[in-house]
Amino acid sequence: MKRRAGSPVVEGKQLHGNVNSDKPRDVVRIGMLGLGTVGSAVIALLWRNRELIQLRVGCAVEVVKVAVKHLDKERPVILDPRMLTDNAYEVIEDESVDIVVELIGGVEPAYEYVMRAIELGKSVVTANKELLAKRGGEILDAAKGKGVDVYFEASVGGGIPIIMPLKQSLVGNRIKRIVGILNGTTNYILTRMTRDGLDFSTALSEAQAKGFAEADPTDDVDAFDPMYKIAILAAIAFGYRIPLDAIYREGIRHIEPADIDYASSLGYVIKLLAIAAEHDGLIELRVHPTLVPKTHPLASVSDNYNAVVIEGDSVGRLMFYGQGAGGAPTASAVVGDIVDAARNLRLDAKGRLPCVCRLGGMFKSIDDVVSRFCIRMRVADKPGVLAKIAGVFGAEGVSIASVVQRESDGKTAEIVWITHATPYRSLRGALEGISSLDVVQSVGKPLWVEAD
Ligand SMILES: NC(=O)c1ccc[n+]([C@@H]2O[C@H](COP(=O)([O-])OP(=O)(O)OC[C@H]3O[C@@H](n4cnc5c(N)ncnc54)[C@H](OP(=O)(O)O)[C@@H]3O)[C@@H](O)[C@H]2O)c1
Repeated sequence: MKRRAGSPVVEGKQLHGNVNSDKPRDVVRIGMLGLGTVGSAVIALLWRNRELIQLRVGCAVEVVKVAVKHLDKERPVILDPRMLTDNAYEVIEDESVDIVVELIGGVEPAYEYVMRAIELGKSVVTANKELLAKRGGEILDAAKGKGVDVYFEASVGGGIPIIMPLKQSLVGNRIKRIVGILNGTTNYILTRMTRDGLDFSTALSEAQAKGFAEADPTDDVDAFDPMYKIAILAAIAFGYRIPLDAIYREGIRHIEPADIDYASSLGYVIKLLAIAAEHDGLIELRVHPTLVPKTHPLASVSDNYNAVVIEGDSVGRLMFYGQGAGGAPTASAVVGDIVDAARNLRLDAKGRLPCVCRLGGMFKSIDDVVSRFCIRMRVADKPGVLAKIAGVFGAEGVSIASVVQRESDGKTAEIVWITHATPYRSLRGALEGISSLDVVQSVGKPLWVEAD
């Protein structure tokens, strides 16, 4: 057997993707499920950089079959109609298809499709955060059993490479903390509220008009989307399967322009942060609007951009920043995964990076999480009120870092309190007591305050 220049040799055997065959693999064939925003951009990128990708994989990468829901829809990429089907199983079960790329979204039927592909011994690439966060354990177990790859770089942070750095480059570190702006829609809304003084509904309508928010924005504004993403990152970082009910979740619907103004005058911007941390074997997971100091690297992440800060015990603090959504940036991550899966096929090295997550992680109750908080309240504008409220805080062990009286209409005044670090349980107890004081008219939802 003649050795081609550059081909790896293991134990005297030449690897061409199939050790049992002397014939080098000259093509890796892709079957795609979904040809929407991301699917179309993936095909466009594979076509545009065809030669570069061939060079990098070592053989051609060809999309041979694509499943869609509506066969007659107009699309930005024009395919030979014989490649299209509205039956996903025709793609998955096509014997020529080596890698199945799932770009449909949602849990069903995507889960059935992915499991069938794995059952047939095919590697899978997906961008589906909801599927991974809800059924990832079963999918990755099945993939391990079959020795195939499941790649999902695009599921978190769109075009930002974050999964592979965590799985590979940072694997020697004990990860202490991950803090991210993982949802572009809410970051866009909060940016418009901060920069231009819009209220939440106006900023949301504008995001919808610009295509940054869905007609039903629940997943984004109620923070389900960043919850799925932090679950995926935490599982890789800490090595435990993450049940979604272990994650505290709070969206941004209640944020008012006044919160943003007060935050700004105190030196903060409001961001929807997703946070995962591990202390003393306990994993802390939360997603909520947060006051971020203007000097913090995440404070300047604006519009629909995403960013993730990771702290490792050896590497220190790293920040990843870029476009967290959109066809082209997301296609960058999907094609990266396709190339990696194709290389593994060529070298017969599938299943190199199996899931190593364990069950049974210990999760911190949100009540035990310690943070600083900012609370806005409207109170009677008369002597002794501040002392009364401060007394309730003190009785619950909540110590006050600062208090600012903002405006008075002669009868009531708006007061903003910032606490020192305190367990959430103590804060809740104090706010219950304060709400029942006769001098207190209303107490706003507390906002978490991130350290510098
Ligand atoms: N869009 C982003 O910026 C972004 C970023 C990161 C990750 N993602 C993830 O990428 C995935 C795809 O998102 P997308 O924005 O591209 O969605 P999309 O534009 O809604 O496209 C979904 C595609 O799936 C097809 N489809 C739906 N049900 C199907 C079925 N049962 N069988 C075959 N095809 C089916 C649709 O067909 P028709 O076209 O015929 O209706 C459409 O082509 C999701 O998991 C999403 O979370 C998206």
